[in-house]
Amino acid sequence: MKLMVIGGGGREHAIIKKLKENKDVEKIYALPGNGGIALDAECVNISATDIDGIVAFAKDNAIDYAVVAPDDPLVLGCVDALNAIGIPCFGPNKNAAIIEGSKVFSKNLMKKYGIPTAQYEVFTDAEKALEYVKTAPIPTVIKADGLALGKGVIIAMTEKEAEDAIIEIMQDKKFGASGNQIVIEEFLTGPEVSVLSFTDGNVVKPMVSSMDHKRAGDNDTGLNTGGMGTIAPNPYYTKEVADRCMEEIFLPTIRAMKAEGRTFKGCLYFGLMITENGPKVIEYNCRFGDPETQVVLPLMKSDLFTVMKAVTEETLADTPVEFEDAHAACVVMASAGYPVSYEKGYEMTIPEDVLPYVYVAGAKEKDGKLLTNGGRVLGVTSVAGSLKEAIAASYEKVEKIHFDNAFYRHDIGARALKAEV
Ligand code: AMP
Ligand code: GLY
Repeated sequence: MKLMVIGGGGREHAIIKKLKENKDVEKIYALPGNGGIALDAECVNISATDIDGIVAFAKDNAIDYAVVAPDDPLVLGCVDALNAIGIPCFGPNKNAAIIEGSKVFSKNLMKKYGIPTAQYEVFTDAEKALEYVKTAPIPTVIKADGLALGKGVIIAMTEKEAEDAIIEIMQDKKFGASGNQIVIEEFLTGPEVSVLSFTDGNVVKPMVSSMDHKRAGDNDTGLNTGGMGTIAPNPYYTKEVADRCMEEIFLPTIRAMKAEGRTFKGCLYFGLMITENGPKVIEYNCRFGDPETQVVLPLMKSDLFTVMKAVTEETLADTPVEFEDAHAACVVMASAGYPVSYEKGYEMTIPEDVLPYVYVAGAKEKDGKLLTNGGRVLGVTSVAGSLKEAIAASYEKVEKIHFDNAFYRHDIGARALKAEV
């Protein structure tokens, strides 16, 4: 079988490494991939948002199956376009990807079907939004409706910050058309849990839970990033919480999508907060999370390609999805200055014995050398019998890797370790 994976970050590298475990998989193309992914797949210089280019490549190369990993091609309808030329895919159609593509859609869906989430109001008019925040409880949360590279959520700690956010999003159009509408919602507190799940639209099979570390600095300081590290399983996601999530959130969501004529097939990511009043949805993503995937897939016991095909063929009910009874930790190595501005092009040295544990997010190959080529550069994952050992093993590997201007958090998993005791 010839496979094609759309995307080019650490998440895609983790997906590709896992897909290769299936012996029917003869060849994997990554579009566009990156210099590190090139060690595991053939990279093709076609952007993940160039839907026409992707379709043409798939046709010319007789691709048997495609995995569309990032949000933007899914929201743009990449799966629909590939299905139209007869190529089966893993990933939702455009009409289901809207669950991530529009926060107004997802909030209204949750309200209509009674799925627990923060209270909210929708605004299409900046003046009305500005009027509203004068009386809204502070802190308040302002969200641009559409995709905004993970930056469209502002936690306003004062009324002034809320006003500035509304003006930037709705009037200055900081995120373009994504800011035509906004959601203003209640500020919730509690530990956060990420749960990625496989669903074929009929059944939902959650993967092992995980915890992201979004802030750039130690002790959750600094700016929000795409994610500086992850651990799995998440100790806050107890059996009791998991059972409630299944009944109150996961099943109601897939049923709601089906009832709306938007059957979701693929990986549905539940971003949850465990509040005093039970688990609530902070956000849905229509795809695998990055860097959650880099801890979840290494713990997956079942064969990924088999499960993906079961999702596509709607036979997930009969397909086991099992995870190791173990712990994983992923430490992200980034370029100094990320997520604002950073330099690229530094040579990396990764010892042979560490390489199998590295997921490459931002790198390019030049004259046989691997050079840094992004904000997030590498994710280093270890699996062990305890969380403590997994964390220690990852940091040991990180210390053996070198590139100029590298930075990483030193406390990945620290909060989870405290929660365990
Ligand atoms: P998102 O980009 O939707 O993942 O949101 C980024 C982060 O903002 C989340 O991971 C939460 O930490 C935080 N957040 C989003 N919505 C809320 C909320 N209603 N209350 C508190 N924190 C929130
Ligand atoms: N790590 C969060 C995300 O993928 O959106």
